[in-house]
Amino acid sequence: MSKVIQHLLSTKDLDLKLIQCLFSRAEKLKRMRAVLSASERILYGETAASLFWEPSTRTRISFEMAAIRLGARTVHLSPAESSMKKGETLDDTLANLFVLGCRFFVIRHSVSGEVARLASQMKPTAHVINAGDGTNEHPSQALLDAFTIRERRKSFEGLEIAILGDILRSRVARSNLFLLGHLGANCRVSGPPELLPKKLEVPSAKIMKHPDEAVEGADVIMALRLQRERGGINFAMPDKEYLQDYGLTQKRVSLAKPDAMIMHPGPINRNVEVEPKVADGPYSVILKQVENGLFMRMAIYEALQGELG
Ligand code: CP
Repeated sequence: MSKVIQHLLSTKDLDLKLIQCLFSRAEKLKRMRAVLSASERILYGETAASLFWEPSTRTRISFEMAAIRLGARTVHLSPAESSMKKGETLDDTLANLFVLGCRFFVIRHSVSGEVARLASQMKPTAHVINAGDGTNEHPSQALLDAFTIRERRKSFEGLEIAILGDILRSRVARSNLFLLGHLGANCRVSGPPELLPKKLEVPSAKIMKHPDEAVEGADVIMALRLQRERGGINFAMPDKEYLQDYGLTQKRVSLAKPDAMIMHPGPINRNVEVEPKVADGPYSVILKQVENGLFMRMAIYEALQGELG
């Protein structure tokens, strides 16, 4: 196995060998339908805590299910109903959960960098998983996305991947750009000018002014949710107009390769970033991404435990 990691915070510096091990293990777990024998449940006796400052369906539930499949127990702390409401700091809260026996912490926070800061305070036997921090990163999402692409395409080398929508505020886009670039894919991003960064940190990735340019000839098209709740940007466009100008319509998708994969990290907003006929069409892998999330997150726990099978 590749070098062991204590935390999963970013895809930026993930070792290629470790990424390949995660893919292979997730593939094996999928073949086994995530059913493990008692001796394979390497988190037996452990407790995994989830702490989410922002709403979640897929990430929280699939991490909890992954921990259970590996033999752990799970606890969930809802910040609004915790003693943080009485003034306890998040650092103290985590220290308390640690002495109660929690060793895995799946954390989603609205502030970029906060999950990494918390991880830096933890004891060496604690493991933090970044389940999304502000507009920074969502590494497990990118890993399951890449795993889903890998199932249907022979190689990432030279693969043309279009990412459309609210790029500026998307942690999913950032984690995917780092990971897919590292794997050899060429990413093109496009969206409303207000929602595009001035430049990208990944040399192989390009910003396209028009979404049609980004989609043309693409092997994979990934739509992103419009993250209105993050605010900070003066962007107000009626949903219908947004769909026509920047969304995945059947007309736009027809510019890509005939079998182009249609992806979206979820939650999807139908008729905003994607037409229902595209989201539910034959090339959509949106629900496959969710399904694969369980296997990839099991593999992530195993890697953190230092026992990637
Ligand atoms: N893709 C994703 O992070 O979904 P949730 O917000 O439901 O976890």
